[in-house]
Amino acid sequence: MKRILFAASECVPFIKTGGLADVVGSLPKNFNKEEFDVRVVLPKYACMKQQWKEKLEYVTNFYMGYNWKERYVGIFKLELDGITFYFIDNEEYFNGDKPYTSDGLWDIERFGYFSKAVLSILPVIDFRPDVIHCHDWQTGLVPVYLDHFRFAGEYYQGIKTVMTIHNLKFQGVWGTKDVRNIVGLPEYYFAPDKLEAYHDANLLKGGIVYADRVTTVSNTYAEEIKMPFYGEKLDGLMNARSNCLSGIVNGIDYEEYNPETDPFLPYNYSVETFRKIKAKNKVALQEELGLEKDPKKMMIGIVSRLTDQKGFDLVEYVMDEMCQDEVQFVILGTGDERYENAFRHFAWKYPNKVSANIYYSEAMSHKIYGSCDAFLMPSLFEPCGLSQLMSLRFGTLPIVRETGGLKDTVEPYNEYEKTGTGFSFSNYNAHEMMNTVRYAEKIYYDKKRDWNKLVERAMTKDFSWKTSAKQYEELYKYI
Ligand code: ADP
Ligand code: GLC
Repeated sequence: MKRILFAASECVPFIKTGGLADVVGSLPKNFNKEEFDVRVVLPKYACMKQQWKEKLEYVTNFYMGYNWKERYVGIFKLELDGITFYFIDNEEYFNGDKPYTSDGLWDIERFGYFSKAVLSILPVIDFRPDVIHCHDWQTGLVPVYLDHFRFAGEYYQGIKTVMTIHNLKFQGVWGTKDVRNIVGLPEYYFAPDKLEAYHDANLLKGGIVYADRVTTVSNTYAEEIKMPFYGEKLDGLMNARSNCLSGIVNGIDYEEYNPETDPFLPYNYSVETFRKIKAKNKVALQEELGLEKDPKKMMIGIVSRLTDQKGFDLVEYVMDEMCQDEVQFVILGTGDERYENAFRHFAWKYPNKVSANIYYSEAMSHKIYGSCDAFLMPSLFEPCGLSQLMSLRFGTLPIVRETGGLKDTVEPYNEYEKTGTGFSFSNYNAHEMMNTVRYAEKIYYDKKRDWNKLVERAMTKDFSWKTSAKQYEELYKYI
């Protein structure tokens, strides 16, 4: 039996800001239980839903030296769907109303504490993992502390680490002196071949340098980050570590995202029934959002963090032009004020055609995946992307830019060979995107049979965790 410990800063159903939470919440359920004992450790945020906080069971507490003080480390536990989750409790660090703050150094202090605590609790909970699987910069110090802890005693020797990069854009960077003072690692670690990058301390870099294996969430992104455009100034390191770097594409939870059983949809449907039923969801959504009610009108959905990564400057640029067509846009998202206001503006200008929902809602996201005809995701970069996988599962055809995981998971329509599961374009250019949207409109209105065949293929593609979980299992075995 191999023991694996996932360490992460978010996880469905407890706390979520993006796809990382979906991955950490769903992947552990998909390993072979006879061979792998997979557990998860998370911070115990005060902003977790009350429903979950009530269920946590107190285990024990102790004190750990960190940032010049003995710090309280509480441990809570919960078993859910056969997986054991541990929660690290420290009110000073995790009491805020959001998992992340806008203060870079404070977040480094908080997640530095978390990373050290992940290792410190192991003897206490009596779970010595063979592999600690770290996710993103918030857990970047785990492999570094582990290296340091090895000198202190036998217990930590032989534990391996995997570092998964979900988004290279976020690295946890701050001035070396401040970081060193807080995290308490010896000066030795703060060198350019270790934690330091461009004279700053960089937590993700530490994780990448010290992890035994590095993965990212699609093959294309694993290649892209070796180049300056996508490498976020770490492309040199990615090349240096390319022997240990691989891409494993994300899956989604096929039970949670299932048009046949989804409790948020007014009408459930399947690959056999979508032709008759799916448009009823569309009409229900048009009614709910105050758009013109018409089952035949093409509806394009967006569910996303509203940031530069997602390509919304392209959408903003040609939205007026696109709104001259017979289409409706339903947007759900929060993020940069610039994009929030742009979408509010278009909703005001085209009230029959554009609905801007600037908030976070799981229910509304499911309704969009299960009601729209197409889903627009023109990302500047996209390590994997889960929204397009959810759309495919619901037969909502993705229109994407060919980058990262979008390129690996959406096969563009080929009208001659009658293949494909969506539409795509290659250059980061607003008119190229608009032409692709218009091409999709043409197929939707003029070639309904082809469109429905596309939907059929999209819905029968398998993006569950089956294949990818096997790849992680292999990695854990041979590390
Ligand atoms: P990223 O992790 O970069 O934000 P992904 O496509 O991997 O992008 O994952 C985004 C996840 O967050 C999906 O589960 C998507 O449905 C969800 N999501 C994003 N914005 C919202 C929102 N405003 N309301 C509900 N769910 C959202
Ligand atoms: C990040 C990426 C997204 C990916 C998700 C889960 O948030 O932006 O592309 O799907 O992590 O791996």
